[in-house]
Order: sequence, then structure tokens, then C-alpha cells
Amino acid sequence: MAIVVSVLKEEQAHENRVAIDPDVTKRLVKAGAKVLVERGAGEESYYSDDSYEQAGAKLVDRQTALSEGNVVAVINRPGDDTLKALKSGQVLIGLLSALIDPDKMQQLADQKVSALSFELLPRTISRAQTMDVLSSQSSIAGYKAALVASDLYPKYFPMMITAAGTVKPAKVLVLGTGVAGLQAIGTAKRLGAVVSGYDVRPASKGEVESLGADFLTSSVSNGAGSGGYARALTAEETAKQQAELAGFIAENDVIITTAQVPGHKPPLMVPQASVDNAKPGTVFIDLAASDLGGNVAGSKPYETVTTDNQVMVVGASNLASELPHSASQLFAKNVQAVINAMLDDDGNIAIDPTDDVFSGLTATTSGDIVNERLREALNLPPLTKPEPATATEAPTESKGAE
Ligand code: NAI
Repeated sequence: MAIVVSVLKEEQAHENRVAIDPDVTKRLVKAGAKVLVERGAGEESYYSDDSYEQAGAKLVDRQTALSEGNVVAVINRPGDDTLKALKSGQVLIGLLSALIDPDKMQQLADQKVSALSFELLPRTISRAQTMDVLSSQSSIAGYKAALVASDLYPKYFPMMITAAGTVKPAKVLVLGTGVAGLQAIGTAKRLGAVVSGYDVRPASKGEVESLGADFLTSSVSNGAGSGGYARALTAEETAKQQAELAGFIAENDVIITTAQVPGHKPPLMVPQASVDNAKPGTVFIDLAASDLGGNVAGSKPYETVTTDNQVMVVGASNLASELPHSASQLFAKNVQAVINAMLDDDGNIAIDPTDDVFSGLTATTSGDIVNERLREALNLPPLTKPEPATATEAPTESKGAE
């Protein structure tokens, strides 16, 4: 491959990850790419500048990384100054929040920058699984959620039988059992807790039970939407769900919430009344905590709130960043898979906007907004699809082999 890949240092507070690690650097260099790493880019994830140099990268300042890279790899969408510095033909790849800020994607389209936004990846296509940042990072967040909970919880997680007496195991409830939730269940079980899970997608029952956890059923059960995701519940369903979960929340010690509905604000599963009724020492870990609100009433992104009734509510907005070394290692593998897939036989960038994976992943290329969901968000008409080949002759009626 004849390309230059640039790795930027992340700008956001609370972000410790880096988009490409030394291992993937080495692989890219071996394949013929040149890798430019902004000095200090890997510092927060425990990858030294030296380790990148040893892997074959060149350490540069941000300006050089920005101006010379054909592909610019980031975790989060960079700030406006960086976006403005990108030039026609460059590829920006990362978690660009394309649907949250569609106007930024329009800006990149106007600059003729190709923007590949991992949130847009069609995850159910098997070829896309090695590129699936949402899965690799959610899995880490779920694992870390159980560890953070066990650290804050003022009692043992496992049952302990000691000469001084027996301690009962912690009861952990995981609300939302997608990628993060299942990993939280597995980790909490390995720590010795008694675990149960709940989701609105009927398919998740089997997945929860296969991990040895109990699945809670509620009357709000058919919440499956499209693409394997949940749908947004109606106000009545939400109220019913909150009421039905209240009893379970009160009898558990740790509640890990992960529920998300693409394109909507996170559903409120734990209202204030359930937080108020929780036992002292209860730990809520809200992976959905965001500026738009989370799954738990009163959760604040990146903060741990202790309520008057001694309940801890952790706004766990970016737990993958709390395991930055592993998270970056997997993120880098996902980026590498995308880079490999977007090159032609001569190793040059050739994004095919009609390809099943790239038509989803690509927000914009060659000045066009390519992703249909993004076009809708920007009030653009759908792209015209190539017409199926028309038959030149009228089909002759066949009675088959009778
Ligand atoms: P997510 O991060 O969008 O949501 C997390 C979980 O919250 C989901 O399980 C969802 O059903 C649940 N949820 C949403 N609203 C809820 C509510 N009101 N009450 C209870 N639960 C609620 O989802 P994630 O983890 O990204 O993936 C969800 C599913 O997507 C997977 O379980 C799988 O079916 C599918 N998927 C498929 C992949 C593949 O085929 N390769 C890869 C990744 C995901």
C-alpha cells in the first residue's frame, strides 16, 4: 500500500484512547504504508512515542500529521480547527458522531474530505464485523462496568464462607443486554455475584441465560426494532416498564444500565423514585449517561453522585477510555480492517460508495453525502440506485418441465 496514515492525539477531556497502536502501526508499515504519529498521541493509553518509532512510525507535530496523511485516524471527531485543516481527497476515520452533528459532515463534504464514521457501520454484515468499533468498545465498557461496580460496592461480590461468618453474594441486575450488557453479566458472574439481566428484545433472553444469569420478563417484551436494535418505547410502555422494574431494582445491590436506542435519547429505566427506594450502598452504573440524559435519573456524565440515601450513581459515559490500552488495541484493529478494505489492488484509496459496507460506513466521499440515514438527517433526497438491467425480450411463458 502506498498511503500515508496519520494518527492524531485526541483532544477531548476524559479520552485516553488512541486510534492506532504500535502493533497495527507495524502491520501497516510492513504492508508498505507510511505512518505518521502526532507526538504524545499514545501517552494516555500507555503507548510511548518510542514504541511507535520502533514499530516504524515517524513522530511528527499535529500540523504535519494533518497535512501529509492520506488517511487521518481518530477516536472522536476532532474540533473545528482540525476539521477545517483537512483537504480534498483526505480520509477521516473514527467515531465522528455523524448523525448527532450532520452539519459537520456536510462541511467535510464541501471540503471534499471522505468521512468514515464508525457509528454508521452496517454491523450485521459479517464482512463488517472486524471493523465494528461499537462492539469492540462496548464489550470493554461492559467489562469495566462490573469492575467499577465491584470497586464501589461496600460489600463482597462473591459469597464468602469464613471462620468469622458467611457473607451473601452481591445481586447484580443488568438492564439492556446487548454487547456491553452481556459482557457486564459475564464479568459480574466471574466475580461471584448472582446476576440477572433484562432487555426488551426477545432474542436477548437466550443470550442472557446462556451466560448462567436469570432473565427478567416484563409485559413490555416485544421491543425489537430494525437491524437487531431495540425500538423506542411509547410513553405508556416506558411507565409500565419503570413500574415493573422498580421491585427488581429495590432488591438488587448493583444495577448496570446499558440501554440505547439508535437515533433517540437513552430510555429512562430507573426513575428518581427507584433511586430513592434503593438500599444504602446500592451502586448504579449508567453506561448511557450523556448530556441528553441516561438510563438512571440524576446520572451525570463522568461524575459519581452519592445521594442522600447513600446510593452511588456513576455516570459511566466512556468506560472504554478507562481501559485505554486494550481499547486502543482493538480500535486499531478495527481501523486497520477498514483501511485494508478501502484500498484497490495497487494499494491506493478507492472507496466504493455502492459497496454494502462502505455505503453505510461512509458519511461523505467525493463531495457527496453517501449514507442514506445521514441524507435523511440533512433533508437530502435519497440517492438514486442503479436501475436493474431490463430484459430486452419479453419473457416467453414457460410451463416448466411437465
Ligand atoms: P445498543 O447499545 O443500541 O443497546 C444496548 C441494549 O439496550 C440493547 O440490547 C437494546 O435492546 C437495549 N434496550 C434499548 N432500549 C431498551 C429498553 N427500553 N429497555 C430494555 N432494554 C433496552 O445495542 P448493542 O449492544 O450495540 O447491540 C444490540 C444488538 O445489535 C445485539 O445484541 C445484536 O443483536 C445486534 N448486533 C449485531 C451484530 C452482528 O450481527 N455482528 C454486532 C453488534 C450488534
